[in-house]
Amino acid sequence: MKDYKDFSILRYNTFGMDVKASRFIEYASVSELKSLLKSVDQPFLHIGGGSNLLFLSDYNGTILHSAIKGFEVVSQTDEYVDIKVGAGEIWDDFVAYTVSCGWYGAENLSIIPGEVGASAVQNIGAYGVEAKDIVLKVHTLSVSDSSERIFANHECGYSYRYSKFKGEYKGKYIVTYVTYRLSRKPCFHLSYGNISSELESRSLPLTLDNVRSVIIDVRRSKLPEPSELGNAGSFFMNPVVPMEKFNELQSLYPDIPNYQVGEDAVKIPAGWMIDRCGWKGRSIGRAGVYHKQALVLVNLGGADGREIMNLATEVINSVKDKFGVEIHPEVNYIY
Ligand code: EPU
Repeated sequence: MKDYKDFSILRYNTFGMDVKASRFIEYASVSELKSLLKSVDQPFLHIGGGSNLLFLSDYNGTILHSAIKGFEVVSQTDEYVDIKVGAGEIWDDFVAYTVSCGWYGAENLSIIPGEVGASAVQNIGAYGVEAKDIVLKVHTLSVSDSSERIFANHECGYSYRYSKFKGEYKGKYIVTYVTYRLSRKPCFHLSYGNISSELESRSLPLTLDNVRSVIIDVRRSKLPEPSELGNAGSFFMNPVVPMEKFNELQSLYPDIPNYQVGEDAVKIPAGWMIDRCGWKGRSIGRAGVYHKQALVLVNLGGADGREIMNLATEVINSVKDKFGVEIHPEVNYIY
């Protein structure tokens, strides 16, 4: 177990905020976590790779981080393989491993920043696939009495970028391992965006490796590398509006992109609306809207959390004024 006082969390947040936590503890096993929970001051903040956090100041409290590692195949048939993965593994190390083994299901989620534990909490998603599509079980420890509890996929309350671990279970359970079920039979998800046309234009046969490399190229062409420009991926979630509101918007903006998500509900890309408000490539002080993707806010160098938050507030207000739609941060503000 590692236990530090006045610890800089620069390496633990992809926005590149150079802030300190009064105490930072990293544990490497379930038994270390159990003993830690007996003595640690509450409330604490449990972080993953820090790819969805915006620190607004130094953190006056304790931060916990998992270094529980390991990949273990726990069951397999001709059809599928179940693999139990430590919450502290880097998400993309897991994806790379599944692709190297020839297992299908995680490849569209290549190079999403963050760690395995957070994948199951945030229900990360990209290119038509979400973590919930491959999560079988989420292994946790209860914060109140250190008992172990395993949640089956259907008990996690998954929806777009949401699980109960962000809602009613927030602060109550710590994810220790996640078991994923991957297919051993070919099964690709290519309907979203330009993935299949990219494969065709490069004359690449349909293989797991090729899908992974196309996804990596497409992401890199749109999204900034946190090591070069601090950011947290999509800063905002895509809002869902009632059909009536969508029809009204479509008559004003016939080219509005949209995805129907239910009988009477339509998801609209926040990035498109922010772009139409003229924000792409603009900045306020050291906080900017990324010039290739308006959904991403960036730290242009030395910004503090308040500058990013102020920019986000301006963006939210202009989208509300122009389109009458509320957009909400996907990123969590930490005070
Ligand atoms: N668009 C613009 N201008 C922009 C950005 C987008 O006009 O500046 C338009 C695009 O042309 C497209 C539409 O908006 O018609 C949607 O854009 P895109 O395909 O880039 O996807 P997104 O809705 O912006 C979502 C996820 C991403 C994920 C991609 C690909 C959310 C909030 N974001 O973005 O997730 O990688 O789809 O699946 O759902 C993340 O969560 O950090 C993340 C990057």
